[in-house]
Amino acid sequence: MDKIIVHGGHTLAGTVKISGSKNSALPILAATLLTKEPCVIHRVPDLSDVHYMLQILNHLGAEVERASGVVTVKAEKVDTVAPYDVVRKMRASVCVLGPLLGREKEATVSLPGGCVIGDRPIDLHLRGFEALGAAVRVHAGNVKVFAPELVGAKISLKGKFGSTVLGTDNVLMASVLAEGTTVIEDAACEPEVVDLANFLNKMGARIEGAGTPQIVVEGVKELHGAEHEVIPDRIEAGTFLVAGAIAGREVTITRAKYDHLAAVGTALEACGFNLTRSNGAITIRPNGSVGSVDLRTEPYPGFPTDMQAQMCALLATARGDSEVTENIFPQRFMHVSELKRMGAAIELDGATAKIRGVNGLSGAPVMASDLRASAALVLAGLKAEGETEINRVYHIDRGYELIDEKLGSLGAHIERVKV
Ligand code: EPZ
Repeated sequence: MDKIIVHGGHTLAGTVKISGSKNSALPILAATLLTKEPCVIHRVPDLSDVHYMLQILNHLGAEVERASGVVTVKAEKVDTVAPYDVVRKMRASVCVLGPLLGREKEATVSLPGGCVIGDRPIDLHLRGFEALGAAVRVHAGNVKVFAPELVGAKISLKGKFGSTVLGTDNVLMASVLAEGTTVIEDAACEPEVVDLANFLNKMGARIEGAGTPQIVVEGVKELHGAEHEVIPDRIEAGTFLVAGAIAGREVTITRAKYDHLAAVGTALEACGFNLTRSNGAITIRPNGSVGSVDLRTEPYPGFPTDMQAQMCALLATARGDSEVTENIFPQRFMHVSELKRMGAAIELDGATAKIRGVNGLSGAPVMASDLRASAALVLAGLKAEGETEINRVYHIDRGYELIDEKLGSLGAHIERVKV
């Protein structure tokens, strides 16, 4: 298990290129199961979560080839049982249920366990499959869905915490080959859902309304192969903007889509940073001291839960008090105890982190936990005095392509140590 050591206090400056989106690539790779023809996906990030997804596709019988950021998948025939020993490593594997059900009318996947950010139920996914005519069986830690035929239906994906991103993806992929019209109400509006719908339409699906709470699908008989480039990773982009905020003089990110992370930009401007944009490049510059701000995570286009931990790291040394409320995963505060070990003054009150800005943080050995909490600890280390050692770096490698090399190219003193 590698660890990352950050030597704090060095100013960042320069330009970093944003990779393709993990949360778009994963469902799009799953969607290639919907056709026997080859699909070519560009700008697939080199991440362990992507490797796990490719392993699953391969296990299901698809031919998978990867040449740097381009992945070709040809699923001439598919098995319908996803292997536990790979699925357990990545809960997003659940998004193979929809395409397998759509194409083979059955699928068996081990139930995704919980994870450090909280319970990860899939009741809304299963509600959608049942509405399309599938039966659901949960047995021995597996969920099996099967249907003699799939018939279009009207489905609501509204849950206690709003909609579901992968649930919308799954129901979308199950409905594209169903008989007749499906209307998904309370659909997730995230850009990654739109990217998936665009890819499915290139394959011959007939989807309208992706990106709005109502998606309408006209079922078709079959889908054909397609070529597609994945959108930029808006969370990686936001993470590097926060890096520029925490320790930067002038940091520019390229190949990002600002409107996918406008809520993050607005929050950083509210903290007093100056953001400028020009054709795909976004530059952040400090504009005096870091001001405090109150944030609430919301479904897109609101402030993303996947940026909550990173903002806590920034606000830990802001001038004044901030409140960060987590409305999507109320337990998603694994980063707080580790930030407090670095000197942050944060108290949790239910799903709200109450942050009192301190003058500085001190480096310390800390433990990575979930993907974004781990990134937050790296960001805090950039600011902290002394050395911060982040253990269990595999959490970060799940979702960030070469984060240490990219930060190093901006002037961070950061090293990866093989343990
Ligand atoms: C996706 O997870 C992302 N992962 C997550 O990013 C992201 O945090 C999340 O969406 C919210 O934006 C991928 O796209 C691979 P949800 P997903 O279903 O789809 C509850 C990262 O760091 N819920 O939108 O699994 C659920 O418990 C990851 O890149 C149900 O109650 O999340 C949560 O409270 C972390 N029933 C809320 O809805 C269900 O059937 C939103 O979850 C499904 C979800």
